[in-house]
Amino acid sequence: MAGKQKPSAPRRINKKHSSARTVKEAPNDGRIRLNKFLADSGIASRRKADELIENGEITINGKKVFELGVRVDPSQDRILYKGKPVKEQNRFVYYVFNKPRSVVTTTSDPHGRPTVIDYFKKSTLRLFPVGRLDWDAEGLILITNDGEFAHKVIHPEKGVLKTYHAKLSGQPSDQQLEKLRRGVSIEGGGKVAAVHTRRLPNKGSDKKSWIELSIKEGKNHQVKKMFQKINFDVEKLRRVAIGGLKLGGLKPGDFKELNAEDFLRIFKKPSVNEDAP
Ligand code: URA
Repeated sequence: MAGKQKPSAPRRINKKHSSARTVKEAPNDGRIRLNKFLADSGIASRRKADELIENGEITINGKKVFELGVRVDPSQDRILYKGKPVKEQNRFVYYVFNKPRSVVTTTSDPHGRPTVIDYFKKSTLRLFPVGRLDWDAEGLILITNDGEFAHKVIHPEKGVLKTYHAKLSGQPSDQQLEKLRRGVSIEGGGKVAAVHTRRLPNKGSDKKSWIELSIKEGKNHQVKKMFQKINFDVEKLRRVAIGGLKLGGLKPGDFKELNAEDFLRIFKKPSVNEDAP
């Protein structure tokens, strides 16, 4: 039977049969194979689940099914085994999501603005975002139902780096970037420091710049406040990695479930250029 998993046992991460939109699953209609649903629910292994299906022991919405490839939407379909509803287990699940701009990082918003959890509406699990990204920031945010995992990712003492690309209103000097690495005091956040900074290739005007910066803490508006301390406004902000897990080619608004390797990457050092600019 599926159980709750922790970062220390990443190879046994449960795969959620998301009924929400995912990058990997196709077709992208919120349905999963019946045998996977039965296996995830702890009824039987996938092979045994196939036998149950072939023997006509499973009904969907009152009808026996025999077809092995049948797909179900667990949030809509009534699936019975031995006349009893098959319920999704409360398993821990982990997603990487590319938050678009103009989306709030919360589970619900009193002002009716779109939230990160709106993208997972079809899920029956109680999902929440791990940490925060500002309304106008985009990029990598983890979505889970595992509070202990979230704590391990967020807590500065655990040392999981969060890496950002920031578009600045000008070109900081080497000394100014060094100041960020030595540490600055920010309003409401105390002393914070960049673990790493790097200039990114400048695609546009010389009056702007893109800087990569990694931090351990997750104070409110931390990156913006740090750059304000050296007299720059952040015009765009994108989180590109958490630990060694990168956003990669995930488009804004898309998400995918973490596999065991992805999961382990979160707790590894990012493979970024650690050299000073
Ligand atoms: N720092 C910020 O200023 N904003 C974010 O969204 C994340 C880090």
